[in-house]
Amino acid sequence: MSHNPSQPVLTQTALQAQFSQPLSGGVGHSRIHESAALHVSGEARYIDDRSEPEGLLHLCPRLSDHAHARILNIDVEPCYRIPGVVAVLTRQQIPGNPDIGALAPGDLLLADDEVNYAGQMVLVVAAESREAARLGARAAIIDYEVLTPILDVREALEKQHYVERPFVQQRGDADAALARAAQRLTGAFHIGGQEHFYLETQAALVYPGEHQTVTVHASTQNPTEVQKLVASVLGVSQSQVTVEMRRMGGAFGGKESQGASVACLCAVAARLTGRPVKMCLSRRDDMRITGKRHAFFVRYEVGIDERGVFCGVKIDLAANCGHSLDLSGSIVDRAMFHADNAYYLGDARITGYRCRTHTVSNTAFRGFGGPQGMVAIEQVIEHIARTLHLDPLEVRQRNYYGTRDGSINARNTTHYHQPVGQNLLDDITERLTRSAQYQQRRAEIEDFNAHHPVLRRGLALMPIKFGISFTSTFLNQAGALLLVYTDGSVQVNHGGTEMGQGLNTKVAQIVAQVLQIDSASIQVTATDTGKVPNTSPTAASSGADLNGKAAQQAAEIIRQRLVDLLCRLYSCAPDDIVFCNGVVRAGEQHFTFAQVAQLAWFNQVPLSATGYYRVPGIHYDRDAGCGQPFYYFVYGAACTEVVVDTLTGEYQVKRVDILHDAGASLNPALDIGQVEGGFAQGMGWVTTEELVWNAQGRLLTDTGATYKIPTVADIPHDFRVQLLPHTDNAVDTVFRSKAVGEPPFMLGIAVWCALQDAVASRDDAEGHVLLELPATPERVWRALQRSQTGVTGRA
Ligand code: MTE
Ligand code: MOS
Repeated sequence: MSHNPSQPVLTQTALQAQFSQPLSGGVGHSRIHESAALHVSGEARYIDDRSEPEGLLHLCPRLSDHAHARILNIDVEPCYRIPGVVAVLTRQQIPGNPDIGALAPGDLLLADDEVNYAGQMVLVVAAESREAARLGARAAIIDYEVLTPILDVREALEKQHYVERPFVQQRGDADAALARAAQRLTGAFHIGGQEHFYLETQAALVYPGEHQTVTVHASTQNPTEVQKLVASVLGVSQSQVTVEMRRMGGAFGGKESQGASVACLCAVAARLTGRPVKMCLSRRDDMRITGKRHAFFVRYEVGIDERGVFCGVKIDLAANCGHSLDLSGSIVDRAMFHADNAYYLGDARITGYRCRTHTVSNTAFRGFGGPQGMVAIEQVIEHIARTLHLDPLEVRQRNYYGTRDGSINARNTTHYHQPVGQNLLDDITERLTRSAQYQQRRAEIEDFNAHHPVLRRGLALMPIKFGISFTSTFLNQAGALLLVYTDGSVQVNHGGTEMGQGLNTKVAQIVAQVLQIDSASIQVTATDTGKVPNTSPTAASSGADLNGKAAQQAAEIIRQRLVDLLCRLYSCAPDDIVFCNGVVRAGEQHFTFAQVAQLAWFNQVPLSATGYYRVPGIHYDRDAGCGQPFYYFVYGAACTEVVVDTLTGEYQVKRVDILHDAGASLNPALDIGQVEGGFAQGMGWVTTEELVWNAQGRLLTDTGATYKIPTVADIPHDFRVQLLPHTDNAVDTVFRSKAVGEPPFMLGIAVWCALQDAVASRDDAEGHVLLELPATPERVWRALQRSQTGVTGRA
């Protein structure tokens, strides 16, 4: 057997010694993110960092100034007077289908004869430089006939101006339960949207090839959809389009569907000019053009008993979807699925409305509607607690799913009829109440507030329960491709995309675990539609669950082939072949993994394999509002403390304790990073991130100067994050881990709860004062003045 000269020849004794050591860097280890060093040194390449090809053209869009208008005329002549302008693209230049709607038609790549939001792209200019493209786009003269827009979600709701019909989930008879209840509470309020503010704006670079092929480099969570849409706008087959995606500089859902338009525009321009084309949106254009988290209007009517336990619940969730459907169908579904958060609602009716307005088409954002559903029920919990003069934590616990003795009963089934499996709510709450010293701090804070007229402290402990799986069941599938080379090094490719969350690191750890090799010898290559086809978006937190399982399967196929070979060559039983820490033992013989790979090659055993995974046993009937949409639930809880200046409404988050369930974590360091980042992003949504439009529907908060995301100074001074020691996950997930990408976002809602607590502590407190979201200092101040903006009352 020949030997790779780069590998030292190890003696049998050395190999035996190595064999008896456990593998480090497999699953469960806090391995550093594979690109961490590149991220911090600035060497990680994003679309705009790629070396520019000869003949590159730059694209810049011209946006609609009006929320709703008819286009009377477009004069592109002046554009061509700008030196460097090569082509101007309007709707007429698109060779194939101009509609790039994700699930249904309605999203035109470039406006036709009407514009439906301020910021909609009307034309793009291709030029030799970005500056020339920008000046060129500005030079076009567009004549409009301005029409009246619908901007308000409540107006759209009243006019039944929908992008899709309403859906209902119900159990029992909510009206009868409300009629019977000891007490009824009603309310209505608004929840704000949120800008993704990914650091890398939407970007793509397209190369035209032979035979009408194109190669697309795009910043997208959904390379397969970009492939499909590029093929569709060009009028070619999917096999003529290859999409490659190395990494995104953040996505957060904003590149699930909406990364496609820039790629499609580049493809059209590349087709027309025969030159490579790049489009990277400026921050301002990105904020104006692309969809955000949906703002919601919520109405509720609940019936409770004397103890504050739900008898009946009716909640209307009305989302401002903007001008088109995009992913709003599923997003409002997920809001409905999470309108229970952790609570058994009794007889319940949840109705989801998908309202159409003349604003940007809102889209996926971490939590995918789930956060808005949870805020709805947490607002109800606050309302109950203030009405009955109870600690909100007490009201929460009284309403938790299940029973304290852990037995499954009727109180452990959701309003969409799925049983709540392996319920960890009590366990997590008890542990966190203890470790965060909730009761002791509650007493201290009461004492503090009694003696301080100006500063008021607030405390809250809030749980989350979040369902894992795409609720469009067919999307729960993934593929992987594994290549082993004769020096024992490995390339793995999978359908998922890396956006900073550490998916590629986890997949490498999974392959390392199965093959028992150092994860440093495993390269996870860029996502490529030419390697793994027909992939789902990396979303719904299921990237590692799905692609990790597919990669695991591919690695197991290879390992089995190697086992079979060694059994044949060394007359062993399969049980005599053991892989451990870079060494393979066959009976008495020890080999390096590289030697076994060589052996396989000489013996003509294939060293590449594909893996495939689909989630078993889930289903959902949208019309009936009934099914088992989630493979499992993730649980967590956050205890937050704030201090509020009652003179100004300004506040600080003083301390945060989090206990979060990641199952048997694949990589605790990455998972804790996801919890910290998710929490901070959630906190931003409920506190300072406010989107403001003017009366004509133009976005005023379209830069970092006017839109306030959390900075390092806003991170809690005392921030304690722990993963729940939970290795007995009953669900067959990849190495018993749980998804971690989105759920911690919703822990940030606990900051809003703590602010409500501080507001409720004011001297003349009586009943409930509503604090709408985002709870900016202005809103906190107003709530303290009792000039509430929403409407709540007793029926
Ligand atoms: N973390 C970073 N750093 N950047 C991101 O864009 N997106 C979030 C979450 N964590 C995101 C992130 C969202 S919206 C999802 S759905 C998941 O990551 C997707 O990745 P996963 O399924 O591999 O967890
Ligand atoms: Mo995440 S909102 O599912 O991309």
